[in-house]
Amino acid sequence: MGLRQVTVAYAPGKIILVGEHAVVYGRPAVAVPVTQVRAQATVEDATTGQGITIVAPDVDQKLLLGGEGGWPSEDPLARTVIATLKYLGLSLEQDLTITVKSDIPIARGLGSGAAVSTAMVRVLAAHFSLELSPQEVSQLVYEVERIHHGTPSGIDNTVIAHERPVYFVQGQTSQTVAVRRTLRLLIGDTGEPSPTKGVVGAVRRQWRRSRGRYESIFDEIGEIALRVRRSMEEGDIAEMGRLMDENHQLLRELDVSSPLLDSLVGAARDEGALGAKLSGAGRGGNVIALVTAERLAQVERALLSAGAERVIGTEVPPGGEGTPAMEISENLARSDEDAV
Ligand code: MEV
Repeated sequence: MGLRQVTVAYAPGKIILVGEHAVVYGRPAVAVPVTQVRAQATVEDATTGQGITIVAPDVDQKLLLGGEGGWPSEDPLARTVIATLKYLGLSLEQDLTITVKSDIPIARGLGSGAAVSTAMVRVLAAHFSLELSPQEVSQLVYEVERIHHGTPSGIDNTVIAHERPVYFVQGQTSQTVAVRRTLRLLIGDTGEPSPTKGVVGAVRRQWRRSRGRYESIFDEIGEIALRVRRSMEEGDIAEMGRLMDENHQLLRELDVSSPLLDSLVGAARDEGALGAKLSGAGRGGNVIALVTAERLAQVERALLSAGAERVIGTEVPPGGEGTPAMEISENLARSDEDAV
């Protein structure tokens, strides 16, 4: 028997700094990758005739593609594999074992689904020695995200596939953000899931009832995202913190906060966080606090004693040119220029 090729690829988590929900209505949002947690995908050549097996030990899932199982296009993992092989111009008749693992907490606004898909897309391309640009990876992942999120804005796949801070507007070329000063962030996990699809749907129902009011809240949030981007570029972290506080208040007005999210935000601010807010769809999930190096340990303790199940610290280093980055388009155009 010949050598079995094994290929491994990774993808980070993400967190929204400002702009969630409003981003679904065309306003800008800012998000950054979270490299302290990640998804991993491994592809291994299998015995001839075995077909494609997807193994996800974290969620106790084993899927056999082709044969009697068919091609379950509603399953996000299967769909990622099918879409990627097709896009790469490869036959679905492969003998492969694909294993996915992730230490990104699920359903907490950290992009676990998009990260798993991104790692899978990357590993399949690498296994067949083919190159995909971040733009192509992002678009393939978006197609998959649509199955379980309904109408996702595309922010998760964009940030995760590019692994850069991003100023994102749905349907437009997003910009990577040049960061002047290190951002120190603490992510406090409520331990409660944030059901993105359900919360996005609830906001939509409210928006239909009070369109004028919701549109003006979205406008205010969009303005905040613009100013946060500027404060990141100027290194004005005090201003950025204030803007995060304002964004949290507006998210409360959208009725997507919860008593636990509010108390974690309050605890972080009381211990000297520059700003704090819920992050992601809300009603569960995470809060994010912007902190100085001096206050980091205190704020972390405060989050834990106020009921956070876990706190993840992450830093966004200075750098980046703030170049135009990517576009979510309906048609994938292969571009060798963009290839990594
Ligand atoms: C969820 O992580 C962020 C939302 O804005 C939904 C989306 O952008 O698709 C609530």
